[in-house]
Amino acid sequence: MKTYVLNGPNLNRLGKREPGIYGSQTLGDLEESCVATGEHIGLEVDFRQTNAEHELLEWLHQAADERIPVVLNAAAWTHTSVAVGDACAQLEAPLIEVHLSNVHKREPFRHHSYVSAHADGVIAGLGLHGYIAALHYIAAA
Ligand code: DQA
Repeated sequence: MKTYVLNGPNLNRLGKREPGIYGSQTLGDLEESCVATGEHIGLEVDFRQTNAEHELLEWLHQAADERIPVVLNAAAWTHTSVAVGDACAQLEAPLIEVHLSNVHKREPFRHHSYVSAHADGVIAGLGLHGYIAALHYIAAA
């Protein structure tokens, strides 16, 4: 089953970006682990990252039209984008929201999510393990 793992802004900077918060793994490491996990559990993982909001919206529209399950780390757009929330509302296959860091332990502006109301589940603070757990949930759903 095809599954999208979609990543929002600044996540291409993983490894260099605030390693005390986000760890030392790069986006490439994350992609490798997600694709390898997918191969073990029967998911064809399509892993993407963008710094352009319209691109994420187009991917979510495709996921809605083709009923593709989504693991979504919308990064800062989680907290700011009504448009990303509206796109998530159109999804019919499972949607799992993930964050590498525990956003609830951080600044108050990170406590609100426009995605959560449309997600089957939310995982925050487990780093890469959150993505892997989300893929296992999708494979079993
Ligand atoms: C993040 C948390 C967001 O608050 C932040 O803007 C990010 C990454 C995370 O994975 O922990 O860019 O989504």
